[in-house]
Amino acid sequence: MMQQPVTRGYSASQIALHWLIVVMVLFQLIFGESMSHSVRAARRGTALDPSDATLATLHIWVGFAILAAVAIRLVLRLRFGAPPLPPSSALLGTLARLTHIAFYVLLVAVPVTGILAYWFIPSLGDVHELGKPAFIVLIALHAAAALWHQLWLRDGLLLRMLKPGS
Ligand code: HEM
Ligand code: HEM
Repeated sequence: MMQQPVTRGYSASQIALHWLIVVMVLFQLIFGESMSHSVRAARRGTALDPSDATLATLHIWVGFAILAAVAIRLVLRLRFGAPPLPPSSALLGTLARLTHIAFYVLLVAVPVTGILAYWFIPSLGDVHELGKPAFIVLIALHAAAALWHQLWLRDGLLLRMLKPGS
């Protein structure tokens, strides 16, 4: 990922996928517990709240959609690259790169462990659930950094994920 081509900006499809994935990941984090309720009810043979049943089905579909969207995003990233990071200290640049890599790792590992837990290896459910705090920490760090650039440094960084570059 480090030696990818350098562009002047993210493309319209990279930007669309970034925000689509944000919305889908937030949905999973907010409503994911319905999936846990559904799995528990099935194990115990107890009744499941109908709204939990619907949200659990959506959890699977949205999870697959995230996996598909991130696959396309990784192909675009590897083929077309990304704009260079804005000038800052080596430490912050490394932190930004590590955050982005960690996001891509989670975006693949969390749905894959979910699929494995649901159909093949139920004990992986606990590993899958660790995705929740991991995502929350990364999102807090990443969103705070984006807002710090935009509002404090005023270097227009947020615009790179809003307006396609040429
Ligand atoms: C990026 C995609 C996904 C995210 C962010 C995500 C997130 C979550 C969250 C937050 C929970 C609830 C954790 C809790 O109760 O504290 C959960 C549970 C669960 N998810 Fe996902 N999920 C994703 C994709 C999937 C996929 C594709 C499947 C496949 C069927 C899946 C299957 C499950 C299962 C089986 C549970 C219950 C685990 C258990 O109770 O042992 N998830 N997920
Ligand atoms: C689920 C939540 C999120 C995920 C998974 C995510 C993921 C990512 C990833 C992987 C990148 C690196 C793109 C690349 O170079 O390949 C990125 C860039 C970016 N994200 Fe997010 N993001 C999330 C939420 C947000 C939010 C809430 C904001 C704004 C407050 C934001 C603003 C940005 C910006 C401005 C960039 C471009 C950084 C640059 O130009 O170097 N992201 N995001």
